[in-house]
Amino acid sequence: MIKVNVSGCQSFVKAADYKKYVKKALDAFDVLDGEEGAGNDFLGWKHLPSDVLDPRSVEPTKGYPVPAISEGLLEECEAVCNNWKMKGVDLVVVIGIGGSYLGARCAIEALSHNFAKQLRAKNAPDVVFAGNNLSEEYLADLLDLAAERNTALIVISKSGTTTEPAVAFRVLKEFVEKHYKDASERIVAITDAVKGALKTLATQQGYKTFIVPDNVGGRFSVLTPVGLLPIMVAGFDVRAILEGAAEMEKSLAVKSEDNPAVVYAAMRNLLYSEMGKKVEIMVTYNPKLQYLGEWWKQLYGESEGKDGKGIFPASVNNTADLHSMGQFIQEGERVMFETVINVEKAGRSVVIGSDEQNLDQLNYLAGQHVEHCGAMAQLGTKLAHIDGGVPQLEISIERINERNLGGLFYFFEFACGVSAYTLDVNPFNQPGVEAYKKNMFALLNKPGYEEASKAIQKRLK
Ligand code: PA5
Repeated sequence: MIKVNVSGCQSFVKAADYKKYVKKALDAFDVLDGEEGAGNDFLGWKHLPSDVLDPRSVEPTKGYPVPAISEGLLEECEAVCNNWKMKGVDLVVVIGIGGSYLGARCAIEALSHNFAKQLRAKNAPDVVFAGNNLSEEYLADLLDLAAERNTALIVISKSGTTTEPAVAFRVLKEFVEKHYKDASERIVAITDAVKGALKTLATQQGYKTFIVPDNVGGRFSVLTPVGLLPIMVAGFDVRAILEGAAEMEKSLAVKSEDNPAVVYAAMRNLLYSEMGKKVEIMVTYNPKLQYLGEWWKQLYGESEGKDGKGIFPASVNNTADLHSMGQFIQEGERVMFETVINVEKAGRSVVIGSDEQNLDQLNYLAGQHVEHCGAMAQLGTKLAHIDGGVPQLEISIERINERNLGGLFYFFEFACGVSAYTLDVNPFNQPGVEAYKKNMFALLNKPGYEEASKAIQKRLK
Protein backbone atom coordinates (compact mmCIF):
# COMPACT_ATOMS: atom_id res chain seq x y z
CA MET A 1 0.00 0.00 0.00
CA ILE A 2 2.93 2.32 0.70
CA LYS A 3 6.54 1.71 -0.20
CA VAL A 4 9.51 3.21 1.62
CA ASN A 5 12.59 3.47 -0.56
CA VAL A 6 15.91 4.40 1.05
CA SER A 7 18.15 3.80 -1.99
CA GLY A 8 18.67 7.58 -2.26
CA CYS A 9 20.45 7.46 1.12
CA GLN A 10 22.76 4.57 0.36
CA SER A 11 25.71 6.61 -0.92
CA PHE A 12 25.66 8.59 2.35
CA VAL A 13 25.62 5.80 4.93
CA LYS A 14 27.60 2.66 5.67
CA ALA A 15 25.69 -0.63 5.50
CA ALA A 16 26.97 -1.60 8.97
CA ASP A 17 25.64 1.66 10.47
CA TYR A 18 22.26 1.11 8.84
CA LYS A 19 22.14 -2.37 10.39
CA LYS A 20 22.94 -0.85 13.79
CA TYR A 21 20.06 1.62 13.46
CA VAL A 22 17.65 -1.03 12.24
CA LYS A 23 18.47 -2.93 15.44
CA LYS A 24 17.79 0.23 17.49
CA ALA A 25 14.50 0.77 15.65
CA LEU A 26 13.50 -2.86 16.23
CA ASP A 27 14.16 -2.40 19.96
CA ALA A 28 12.03 0.77 19.84
CA PHE A 29 9.34 -1.23 18.00
CA ASP A 30 9.30 -3.65 20.96
CA VAL A 31 8.84 -0.75 23.38
CA LEU A 32 5.89 0.56 21.37
CA ASP A 33 4.48 -2.92 20.88
CA GLY A 34 4.89 -3.87 24.55
CA GLU A 35 3.26 -0.58 25.56
CA GLU A 36 5.77 -0.10 28.36
CA GLY A 37 7.60 3.00 27.18
CA ALA A 38 7.31 6.63 28.29
CA GLY A 39 3.83 8.05 27.65
CA ASN A 40 2.27 4.59 27.40
CA ASP A 41 -1.05 5.94 28.68
CA PHE A 42 -1.40 7.70 25.29
CA LEU A 43 -1.39 4.68 23.01
CA GLY A 44 -5.11 4.60 22.18
CA TRP A 45 -4.30 5.72 18.61
CA LYS A 46 -2.54 2.40 17.90
CA HIS A 47 -5.80 0.52 17.52
CA LEU A 48 -8.05 3.38 16.44
CA PRO A 49 -8.64 2.25 12.85
CA SER A 50 -9.85 -1.22 13.83
CA ASP A 51 -11.57 0.07 16.98
CA VAL A 52 -13.63 2.69 15.12
CA LEU A 53 -14.59 0.20 12.42
CA ASP A 54 -15.57 -2.38 15.05
CA PRO A 55 -16.15 -0.69 18.42
CA ARG A 56 -17.64 -3.83 20.02
CA SER A 57 -14.16 -5.15 20.73
CA VAL A 58 -12.89 -1.94 22.40
CA GLU A 59 -11.77 -2.31 26.00
CA PRO A 60 -12.77 0.66 28.19
CA THR A 61 -9.83 2.93 29.10
CA LYS A 62 -8.68 2.07 32.62
CA GLY A 63 -10.38 4.25 35.25
CA TYR A 64 -12.30 6.25 32.64
CA PRO A 65 -16.05 6.66 32.83
CA VAL A 66 -16.92 6.12 29.17
CA PRO A 67 -15.69 3.80 26.41
CA ALA A 68 -12.94 5.33 24.28
CA ILE A 69 -14.95 4.76 21.10
CA SER A 70 -18.73 4.65 21.19
CA GLU A 71 -20.59 2.08 19.14
CA GLY A 72 -22.24 3.67 16.15
CA LEU A 73 -19.76 6.55 16.05
CA LEU A 74 -19.84 6.84 12.26
CA GLU A 75 -23.63 6.68 12.24
CA GLU A 76 -23.66 9.53 14.80
CA CYS A 77 -21.41 11.55 12.52
CA GLU A 78 -23.74 10.78 9.60
CA ALA A 79 -26.70 11.99 11.66
CA VAL A 80 -24.98 15.36 12.16
CA CYS A 81 -24.31 15.63 8.41
CA ASN A 82 -27.93 14.76 7.58
CA ASN A 83 -29.35 17.16 10.13
CA TRP A 84 -27.27 20.03 8.75
CA LYS A 85 -28.16 19.04 5.20
CA MET A 86 -31.85 19.32 6.11
CA LYS A 87 -31.19 22.80 7.47
CA GLY A 88 -29.44 23.74 4.22
CA VAL A 89 -26.09 24.38 5.96
CA ASP A 90 -23.51 25.28 3.32
CA LEU A 91 -20.63 26.51 5.50
CA VAL A 92 -19.13 24.62 8.42
CA VAL A 93 -16.47 26.35 10.49
CA VAL A 94 -14.11 23.91 12.20
CA ILE A 95 -12.62 25.61 15.24
CA GLY A 96 -9.43 24.07 16.63
CA ILE A 97 -5.64 24.31 16.68
CA GLY A 98 -2.72 21.87 16.30
CA GLY A 99 -3.92 18.28 16.36
CA SER A 100 -7.47 19.56 16.64
CA TYR A 101 -7.52 20.76 13.02
CA LEU A 102 -4.46 19.77 10.99
CA GLY A 103 -5.53 16.19 10.21
CA ALA A 104 -8.95 17.26 8.96
CA ARG A 105 -7.47 20.10 6.93
CA CYS A 106 -4.85 17.80 5.44
CA ALA A 107 -7.47 15.24 4.34
CA ILE A 108 -9.96 17.79 3.03
CA GLU A 109 -7.32 19.62 0.98
CA ALA A 110 -5.84 16.37 -0.35
CA LEU A 111 -9.21 14.98 -1.44
CA SER A 112 -10.90 18.14 -2.73
CA HIS A 113 -10.96 19.45 -6.28
CA ASN A 114 -8.31 22.18 -6.43
CA PHE A 115 -10.96 24.75 -7.36
CA ALA A 116 -13.93 23.35 -5.48
CA LYS A 117 -14.66 26.72 -3.88
CA GLN A 118 -14.72 28.57 -7.19
CA LEU A 119 -16.64 25.84 -9.02
CA ARG A 120 -19.31 25.61 -6.30
CA ALA A 121 -20.08 22.18 -7.76
CA LYS A 122 -20.07 20.36 -4.45
CA ASN A 123 -23.10 18.93 -2.78
CA ALA A 124 -21.44 19.11 0.63
CA PRO A 125 -20.88 22.24 2.72
CA ASP A 126 -17.66 24.23 2.43
CA VAL A 127 -15.45 23.53 5.42
CA VAL A 128 -13.26 26.39 6.64
CA PHE A 129 -11.05 26.62 9.70
CA ALA A 130 -10.77 29.02 12.63
CA GLY A 131 -9.21 29.09 16.08
CA ASN A 132 -5.75 28.28 14.74
CA ASN A 133 -4.52 31.88 15.05
CA LEU A 134 -5.25 35.05 17.01
CA SER A 135 -5.68 37.28 13.98
CA GLU A 136 -8.53 39.75 14.41
CA GLU A 137 -8.60 40.35 10.67
CA TYR A 138 -9.06 36.63 9.98
CA LEU A 139 -12.04 36.41 12.32
CA ALA A 140 -13.62 39.59 10.98
CA ASP A 141 -13.27 38.28 7.41
CA LEU A 142 -14.76 34.95 8.49
CA LEU A 143 -17.77 36.72 10.00
CA ASP A 144 -18.30 38.41 6.62
CA LEU A 145 -18.37 34.99 4.99
CA ALA A 146 -20.61 33.45 7.65
CA ALA A 147 -23.10 36.31 7.19
CA GLU A 148 -23.47 35.37 3.52
CA ARG A 149 -23.93 31.67 4.18
CA ASN A 150 -25.96 29.11 6.11
CA THR A 151 -23.49 28.40 8.88
CA ALA A 152 -22.77 25.69 11.46
CA LEU A 153 -19.81 25.18 13.82
CA ILE A 154 -17.67 22.26 14.97
CA VAL A 155 -15.58 23.31 17.96
CA ILE A 156 -12.73 20.95 18.83
CA SER A 157 -10.46 21.04 21.86
CA LYS A 158 -9.34 17.95 23.71
CA SER A 159 -8.34 19.90 26.81
CA GLY A 160 -11.27 22.25 26.34
CA THR A 161 -9.13 25.12 27.60
CA THR A 162 -6.97 26.21 24.65
CA THR A 163 -7.11 29.99 24.18
CA GLU A 164 -7.07 30.32 20.39
CA PRO A 165 -10.11 28.10 19.69
CA ALA A 166 -11.87 29.37 22.82
CA VAL A 167 -11.63 32.99 21.59
CA ALA A 168 -12.78 32.08 18.07
CA PHE A 169 -15.63 30.01 19.46
CA ARG A 170 -16.86 32.79 21.72
CA VAL A 171 -17.04 35.15 18.72
CA LEU A 172 -18.62 32.63 16.33
CA LYS A 173 -21.04 31.27 18.93
CA GLU A 174 -22.33 34.79 19.49
CA PHE A 175 -22.76 35.18 15.73
CA VAL A 176 -24.67 31.89 15.40
CA GLU A 177 -26.88 32.67 18.40
CA LYS A 178 -27.70 36.07 16.95
CA HIS A 179 -28.55 34.75 13.49
CA TYR A 180 -30.28 31.41 14.09
CA LYS A 181 -33.14 30.38 16.37
CA ASP A 182 -31.84 26.77 16.30
CA ALA A 183 -28.29 27.85 17.27
CA SER A 184 -27.64 24.95 19.64
CA GLU A 185 -28.40 22.47 16.83
CA ARG A 186 -25.80 24.17 14.65
CA ILE A 187 -22.97 23.64 17.11
CA VAL A 188 -21.15 20.37 17.71
CA ALA A 189 -18.42 20.09 20.35
CA ILE A 190 -15.61 17.53 20.25
CA THR A 191 -13.79 17.37 23.57
CA ASP A 192 -12.91 15.31 26.63
CA ALA A 193 -15.65 13.14 28.14
CA VAL A 194 -15.52 14.86 31.51
CA LYS A 195 -12.86 17.60 31.82
CA GLY A 196 -12.49 21.17 30.58
CA ALA A 197 -14.44 24.37 30.07
CA LEU A 198 -15.71 23.27 26.63
CA LYS A 199 -17.24 20.10 28.08
CA THR A 200 -19.03 22.14 30.78
CA LEU A 201 -20.26 24.67 28.23
CA ALA A 202 -21.42 22.00 25.76
CA THR A 203 -23.33 20.12 28.45
CA GLN A 204 -25.04 23.29 29.70
CA GLN A 205 -26.00 24.42 26.21
CA GLY A 206 -27.10 20.95 25.11
CA TYR A 207 -24.76 20.70 22.13
CA LYS A 208 -24.27 17.39 20.37
CA THR A 209 -20.91 16.22 21.72
CA PHE A 210 -18.30 13.74 20.54
CA ILE A 211 -15.49 12.45 22.73
CA VAL A 212 -11.76 12.65 22.15
CA PRO A 213 -10.56 9.45 23.83
CA ASP A 214 -8.51 10.13 26.95
CA ASN A 215 -5.69 7.90 25.73
CA VAL A 216 -5.23 9.65 22.35
CA GLY A 217 -3.10 12.82 22.18
CA GLY A 218 -4.13 15.71 19.93
CA ARG A 219 -1.65 15.13 17.12
CA PHE A 220 -2.58 11.43 17.00
CA SER A 221 -6.33 12.12 16.88
CA VAL A 222 -7.13 12.38 13.17
CA LEU A 223 -8.90 9.00 13.20
CA THR A 224 -11.20 10.02 16.08
CA PRO A 225 -14.22 12.35 15.60
CA VAL A 226 -11.63 15.20 15.64
CA GLY A 227 -10.73 14.32 12.04
CA LEU A 228 -13.57 12.05 11.00
CA LEU A 229 -16.50 14.42 11.53
CA PRO A 230 -15.10 17.41 9.59
CA ILE A 231 -13.87 15.11 6.80
CA MET A 232 -17.31 13.47 6.56
CA VAL A 233 -19.05 16.87 6.64
CA ALA A 234 -16.86 17.89 3.68
CA GLY A 235 -18.28 14.94 1.73
CA PHE A 236 -15.49 12.36 1.89
CA ASP A 237 -15.55 8.65 2.62
CA VAL A 238 -14.21 8.28 6.15
CA ARG A 239 -14.86 4.52 6.15
CA ALA A 240 -12.35 4.19 3.30
CA ILE A 241 -9.85 6.31 5.29
CA LEU A 242 -10.33 4.00 8.29
CA GLU A 243 -10.06 0.88 6.13
CA GLY A 244 -6.79 2.12 4.64
CA ALA A 245 -5.51 2.90 8.13
CA ALA A 246 -6.69 -0.49 9.46
CA GLU A 247 -4.83 -2.27 6.67
CA MET A 248 -1.70 -0.32 7.63
CA GLU A 249 -2.30 -1.06 11.34
CA LYS A 250 -2.26 -4.77 10.50
CA SER A 251 0.82 -4.68 8.29
CA LEU A 252 2.92 -2.49 10.62
CA ALA A 253 2.16 -4.74 13.60
CA VAL A 254 4.56 -7.34 12.18
CA LYS A 255 8.07 -6.94 13.60
CA SER A 256 10.61 -7.16 10.81
CA GLU A 257 13.63 -5.40 9.36
CA ASP A 258 11.49 -4.61 6.32
CA ASN A 259 8.61 -3.11 8.27
CA PRO A 260 8.27 0.30 6.54
CA ALA A 261 8.02 2.13 9.88
CA VAL A 262 11.23 0.45 11.08
CA VAL A 263 13.02 1.31 7.82
CA TYR A 264 11.92 4.96 8.00
CA ALA A 265 12.75 5.31 11.71
CA ALA A 266 16.13 3.62 11.30
CA MET A 267 17.26 5.69 8.33
CA ARG A 268 16.14 9.08 9.66
CA ASN A 269 17.78 8.42 13.04
CA LEU A 270 20.99 7.27 11.37
CA LEU A 271 21.12 10.39 9.19
CA TYR A 272 20.44 12.55 12.24
CA SER A 273 22.73 10.93 14.78
CA GLU A 274 25.69 9.95 12.60
CA MET A 275 25.61 12.23 9.55
CA GLY A 276 24.71 15.59 11.12
CA LYS A 277 21.43 15.77 9.19
CA LYS A 278 19.40 17.80 11.66
CA VAL A 279 16.62 18.89 9.29
CA GLU A 280 14.13 16.63 7.50
CA ILE A 281 12.20 18.20 4.66
CA MET A 282 8.95 16.57 3.58
CA VAL A 283 8.76 17.14 -0.17
CA THR A 284 5.44 16.96 -2.00
CA TYR A 285 4.83 17.48 -5.71
CA ASN A 286 1.11 18.19 -5.67
CA PRO A 287 -0.46 21.36 -4.24
CA LYS A 288 -3.16 19.18 -2.64
CA LEU A 289 -0.54 17.65 -0.35
CA GLN A 290 0.72 20.88 1.17
CA TYR A 291 -1.22 20.22 4.38
CA LEU A 292 0.15 16.69 4.63
CA GLY A 293 3.43 18.49 5.31
CA GLU A 294 1.77 20.73 7.91
CA TRP A 295 0.16 17.75 9.69
CA TRP A 296 3.42 15.76 9.59
CA LYS A 297 5.47 18.71 10.92
CA GLN A 298 3.27 18.94 14.00
CA LEU A 299 3.31 15.18 14.53
CA TYR A 300 7.09 14.87 14.37
CA GLY A 301 8.01 18.30 15.77
CA GLU A 302 5.93 17.98 18.93
CA SER A 303 6.70 14.31 19.40
CA GLU A 304 10.48 14.37 18.96
CA GLY A 305 11.67 17.92 19.65
CA LYS A 306 12.48 17.72 23.36
CA ASP A 307 15.32 17.10 25.82
CA GLY A 308 17.61 19.11 23.51
CA LYS A 309 17.11 16.52 20.75
CA GLY A 310 15.08 15.97 17.59
CA ILE A 311 15.10 16.36 13.83
CA PHE A 312 13.66 19.72 12.76
CA PRO A 313 10.74 18.94 10.42
CA ALA A 314 10.27 21.28 7.47
CA SER A 315 8.27 20.97 4.27
CA VAL A 316 8.28 22.17 0.69
CA ASN A 317 5.74 21.86 -2.10
CA ASN A 318 7.45 21.43 -5.45
CA THR A 319 7.93 22.42 -8.10
CA ALA A 320 6.91 25.84 -6.68
CA ASP A 321 9.51 25.65 -3.91
CA LEU A 322 12.29 24.60 -6.26
CA HIS A 323 12.14 28.26 -7.27
CA SER A 324 12.47 29.48 -3.68
CA MET A 325 14.00 26.89 -1.34
CA GLY A 326 15.63 24.91 -4.15
CA GLN A 327 18.81 27.00 -4.11
CA PHE A 328 19.32 26.47 -0.38
CA ILE A 329 18.58 22.77 -0.55
CA GLN A 330 21.02 22.34 -3.43
CA GLU A 331 23.90 24.42 -2.11
CA GLY A 332 23.24 25.85 1.37
CA GLU A 333 24.24 24.49 4.77
CA ARG A 334 24.44 20.68 4.40
CA VAL A 335 22.21 19.80 7.35
CA MET A 336 19.16 18.33 5.69
CA PHE A 337 17.74 15.22 4.15
CA GLU A 338 14.49 14.90 2.23
CA THR A 339 11.49 12.59 2.54
CA VAL A 340 9.66 12.71 -0.77
CA ILE A 341 6.01 11.74 -1.01
CA ASN A 342 5.85 10.03 -4.38
CA VAL A 343 2.39 9.70 -5.94
CA GLU A 344 2.64 7.14 -8.73
CA LYS A 345 -0.55 7.92 -10.66
CA ALA A 346 -2.18 11.25 -11.40
CA GLY A 347 -5.86 11.67 -10.58
CA ARG A 348 -6.57 13.65 -13.79
CA SER A 349 -5.19 13.86 -17.30
CA VAL A 350 -4.00 16.89 -19.29
CA VAL A 351 -1.94 16.42 -22.45
CA ILE A 352 0.32 19.16 -23.82
CA GLY A 353 -0.72 20.10 -27.35
CA SER A 354 1.37 20.75 -30.45
CA ASP A 355 1.67 24.30 -31.81
CA GLU A 356 2.48 24.95 -35.44
CA GLN A 357 4.46 28.11 -34.73
CA ASN A 358 6.19 26.70 -31.67
CA LEU A 359 7.02 30.22 -30.48
CA ASP A 360 7.28 28.97 -26.89
CA GLN A 361 9.61 26.19 -28.12
CA LEU A 362 7.65 23.57 -26.27
CA ASN A 363 6.87 21.22 -29.17
CA TYR A 364 9.41 18.76 -27.80
CA LEU A 365 6.79 18.11 -25.11
CA ALA A 366 3.82 17.82 -27.47
CA GLY A 367 1.75 14.73 -26.73
CA GLN A 368 3.16 14.34 -23.22
CA HIS A 369 1.08 14.36 -20.07
CA VAL A 370 1.85 17.27 -17.74
CA GLU A 371 2.38 14.61 -15.07
CA HIS A 372 5.27 13.20 -17.13
CA CYS A 373 7.01 16.58 -16.94
CA GLY A 374 6.34 16.57 -13.19
CA ALA A 375 7.80 13.09 -12.82
CA MET A 376 10.93 14.11 -14.73
CA ALA A 377 11.26 17.26 -12.59
CA GLN A 378 10.98 15.03 -9.52
CA LEU A 379 13.59 12.57 -10.77
CA GLY A 380 15.93 15.34 -11.92
CA THR A 381 15.62 17.00 -8.50
CA LYS A 382 16.30 13.74 -6.70
CA LEU A 383 19.53 13.19 -8.64
CA ALA A 384 20.62 16.83 -8.26
CA HIS A 385 19.96 16.87 -4.52
CA ILE A 386 21.80 13.59 -3.98
CA ASP A 387 24.73 15.10 -5.92
CA GLY A 388 24.42 18.15 -3.67
CA GLY A 389 24.72 16.08 -0.49
CA VAL A 390 21.04 15.71 0.38
CA PRO A 391 19.99 12.11 1.09
CA GLN A 392 16.55 11.13 -0.19
CA LEU A 393 13.96 8.88 1.37
CA GLU A 394 10.93 8.15 -0.76
CA ILE A 395 7.48 7.16 0.42
CA SER A 396 5.26 6.06 -2.44
CA ILE A 397 1.51 5.72 -2.73
CA GLU A 398 -0.29 4.72 -5.90
CA ARG A 399 -2.66 7.70 -5.98
CA ILE A 400 -4.23 10.28 -3.70
CA ASN A 401 -7.46 8.82 -2.34
CA GLU A 402 -9.14 8.13 1.00
CA ARG A 403 -7.63 4.66 1.48
CA ASN A 404 -4.07 5.74 0.84
CA LEU A 405 -4.45 8.83 2.97
CA GLY A 406 -5.68 6.67 5.86
CA GLY A 407 -2.65 4.44 5.31
CA LEU A 408 -0.30 7.44 5.35
CA PHE A 409 -1.85 8.82 8.55
CA TYR A 410 -1.36 5.55 10.36
CA PHE A 411 2.09 4.94 8.87
CA PHE A 412 3.43 8.31 10.02
CA GLU A 413 1.90 7.96 13.49
CA PHE A 414 3.31 4.49 14.05
CA ALA A 415 6.71 5.40 12.60
CA CYS A 416 6.74 8.47 14.84
CA GLY A 417 6.33 6.26 17.92
CA VAL A 418 9.14 3.95 16.74
CA SER A 419 11.39 6.85 15.77
CA ALA A 420 10.93 8.82 19.00
CA TYR A 421 11.65 5.74 21.10
CA THR A 422 14.74 5.13 18.93
CA LEU A 423 15.81 8.66 19.89
CA ASP A 424 14.90 7.91 23.51
CA VAL A 425 12.29 10.64 23.95
CA ASN A 426 8.66 10.41 25.07
CA PRO A 427 6.66 10.86 21.84
CA PHE A 428 3.40 11.62 23.57
CA ASN A 429 3.96 14.75 25.66
CA GLN A 430 4.62 18.37 24.70
CA PRO A 431 5.84 20.17 27.86
CA GLY A 432 7.52 22.93 25.83
CA VAL A 433 4.20 24.23 24.47
CA GLU A 434 3.34 25.63 27.91
CA ALA A 435 6.13 28.27 27.98
CA TYR A 436 4.49 30.72 25.55
CA LYS A 437 1.08 30.15 27.11
CA LYS A 438 2.34 31.12 30.57
CA ASN A 439 3.79 34.40 29.23
CA MET A 440 0.67 35.14 27.15
CA PHE A 441 -1.64 34.56 30.14
CA ALA A 442 0.57 36.77 32.32
CA LEU A 443 0.51 39.52 29.67
CA LEU A 444 -3.27 39.21 29.30
CA ASN A 445 -3.71 39.39 33.11
CA LYS A 446 -5.48 36.06 33.32
CA PRO A 447 -6.62 35.38 36.90
CA GLY A 448 -4.10 33.11 38.64
CA TYR A 449 -1.14 34.57 36.76
CA GLU A 450 -0.55 37.67 38.96
CA GLU A 451 2.98 36.69 40.05
CA ALA A 452 4.03 35.76 36.51
CA SER A 453 2.52 39.03 35.33
CA LYS A 454 4.59 41.08 37.76
CA ALA A 455 7.76 39.20 36.80
CA ILE A 456 7.17 39.70 33.08
CA GLN A 457 6.38 43.41 33.46
CA LYS A 458 9.68 43.83 35.33
CA ARG A 459 11.51 42.00 32.57
CA LEU A 460 9.96 44.20 29.88
CA LYS A 461 10.92 47.51 31.57
O1 PA5 B 1 -0.76 17.32 19.93
C1 PA5 B 1 -1.26 18.02 20.81
O2 PA5 B 1 -1.67 17.53 21.87
C2 PA5 B 1 -1.45 19.50 20.62
O3 PA5 B 1 -0.86 19.99 19.48
C3 PA5 B 1 -2.92 19.85 20.61
O4 PA5 B 1 -3.55 19.19 19.54
C4 PA5 B 1 -3.18 21.35 20.49
O5 PA5 B 1 -2.42 22.06 21.43
C5 PA5 B 1 -4.66 21.65 20.72
O6 PA5 B 1 -5.05 21.22 21.99
P1 PA5 B 1 -6.57 21.08 22.39
O7 PA5 B 1 -7.20 20.09 21.51
O8 PA5 B 1 -6.52 20.62 23.81
O9 PA5 B 1 -7.19 22.44 22.26
